[in-house]
Amino acid sequence: MVQTATASRRAALALLLGGVSTAAWAAPAASGLTVFKTPWCGCCGVWLDRMKTAGFTKVTVVQLEDLGPTRRKLGIPDAYASCHTAVIGGYALEGHVPPQDVSRLLKERPAAAGLAVPGMPAGSPGMETPDGRRQPFSTMLVLKDGKAQVFARHG
Ligand code: CU
Ligand code: CU
Repeated sequence: MVQTATASRRAALALLLGGVSTAAWAAPAASGLTVFKTPWCGCCGVWLDRMKTAGFTKVTVVQLEDLGPTRRKLGIPDAYASCHTAVIGGYALEGHVPPQDVSRLLKERPAAAGLAVPGMPAGSPGMETPDGRRQPFSTMLVLKDGKAQVFARHG
């Protein structure tokens, strides 16, 4: 079920951002997915559909005009930015991260800020092209010091 937060948006943000270094950061893997997106971007919704199909069905959407501050607070540097930022199980997810990478992240639970697929690679989940064109991309594991390493290669 997708619920677009309006009145509760400030509370959700406070909870998510305020809890970064406390108990909320260690939320169980089964916790819900919260997605921060802009109102004018469509591919975020398609990515969300891919996540739901993969079983991530407990979803909250928060519309924000500027994602930068939220993304940075969650530990994802500008260099790894994409079109939406999500939070699940204490990890940030930046951009069109494949659902199977999210499942692996939640299973392995590495010490990290989260996963990022920088930019918007064609053919990534939610960025499918009409002609099936795919651009190879890597899912990056963003560490807590802002550095990153390859988590998975795709394409
Ligand atoms: Cu996108
Ligand atoms: Cu988008």
